[in-house]
Amino acid sequence: MQKRNELYRGKAKTLYSTDNPELLILEFRNDTSSGNGIRIEQFDRKGIINNKLNSFFMMKLEEAFIPTQIEKLLSDNEVLVKKLKMFPVECILRNRIAGSLSKRLGMEEGVILNPPLFELFLKNDAKHDPMINESYCNTFNWVSTKDLEKIRELTYNINNILVNIFNSVDLILVDFKLEFGLFKGEVILGDEVSLDVMRLWDKTTMNKMDKDRFRQNLGGLIEAYEAVAYRLGVNIY
Ligand code: ATP
Ligand code: TYD
Repeated sequence: MQKRNELYRGKAKTLYSTDNPELLILEFRNDTSSGNGIRIEQFDRKGIINNKLNSFFMMKLEEAFIPTQIEKLLSDNEVLVKKLKMFPVECILRNRIAGSLSKRLGMEEGVILNPPLFELFLKNDAKHDPMINESYCNTFNWVSTKDLEKIRELTYNINNILVNIFNSVDLILVDFKLEFGLFKGEVILGDEVSLDVMRLWDKTTMNKMDKDRFRQNLGGLIEAYEAVAYRLGVNIY
């Protein structure tokens, strides 16, 4: 597999073309952003840890018959993926109140949401990723009704799988963000499933083990990511 041109440099990952027009290389960098890129810092080893954890989660999802972009782990910070036509939306699933939901509704962090909440945000940094709904997706042709139904079903299934994985190592999956795209007409999970795009709390101490350590200046970001990888038995070295 030949790496060709840089196609896109996002806030945390870079996309490269390959000699196969159907495949891309996703490179996980050490850059860590918050507030839609207002604050960016580098953390040694974060790219490696997220790349390895992303592959671990996507493989687990594949085993559970969730269609994902993953083809092959290529190196410490690169993975070969299917080139998707991404939907311009971020899908958020919440098992407990936290973050923007807590702020928006003035509700206490940690309250269990039953059933879990499914939210949609438009991918638009300039407009700070505004919240949208199914009607917007339909009217503005961002996602068809049929594809959105599939995305919603997949997101709830992915939640069940991830909750079980984390529960078995005494972690609470509070919420997470997913991005989907189309590959030959099929809805596929793209982007990443890593500690940058989810909230994870320790079941006993309720300590935050995710990117909130950076967002809230708690310190120990990489130590927390390493501890999660260790509990899951994922080799990050
Ligand atoms: P955000 O953090 O809001 O997603 P970003 O573009 O800065 O924005 P990065 O994760 O740095 O985020 O960049 C990765 C980009 O690659 C995203 O725009 C994502 O939608 C896109 N992408 C992810 N997976 C694939 C894929 N399999 N095929 C095509 N594009 C993809
Ligand atoms: P949310 O509480 O809406 O936003 P914030 O992180 O600003 O408080 O985020 C819910 C979950 O989705 C959380 O685990 C972070 C993740 N997320 C992303 O990874 N990227 C995003 O652009 C957004 C809006 C959320």
